[in-house]
Amino acid sequence: MKPPSRPPTRAIFLLALAAGTALAALPPAPAMADNAAPPYTIKDGRVDQATFNGYRRYTESCLRCHGPDGAGSSYAPNLTDSLKTMSQEQFGETVINGRKNVSSSNQNVMPAFGNVEDVALYLDDIYAYLKARSDGVLGRGRPKRASDD
Ligand code: HEC
Repeated sequence: MKPPSRPPTRAIFLLALAAGTALAALPPAPAMADNAAPPYTIKDGRVDQATFNGYRRYTESCLRCHGPDGAGSSYAPNLTDSLKTMSQEQFGETVINGRKNVSSSNQNVMPAFGNVEDVALYLDDIYAYLKARSDGVLGRGRPKRASDD
């Protein structure tokens, strides 16, 4: 007979729940996996080249639906809110595969960008830009680059 496997599993689950509750009681902090460094660098109000590239790509491919600065529109959600809870993996998966809201009468569609090189090749940069906006460390508009005068 196999030893029962359920009780230990449940104990671990409850522990995880308890840990989650304890964390939830802490003041809100930017959602970050572990202590991973942020995906962007901002020094003296100036962004690194990758984050700037993310801004450019966002403006080219995403702004028409998600609004200026990732702030959302009547058609598509505010991505600076989304990235407070969404992981980078979930973000990438959504952008590559797209999504159609099936849970409401809302028929708005997030197109799949898996075949759009200008987006798919620069997912990390777009994420870095939106994450900086989401973390509240980057204002609206065109960011200044470290290399700008
Ligand atoms: C044609 C309009 C359109 C374009 C262009 C577009 N999106 Fe979307 N996007 C949407 C809509 C609508 C949703 C919500 C879909 C749903 O609820 O199922 C969405 C959802 C998302 C989500 C999930 C948000 C959440 O809170 O769950 C992410 C992330 C996202 N888009 C990123 C992007 C990025 C990055 C780009 C540019 C590369 C982009 N989108 C371009 C319309 C668009």
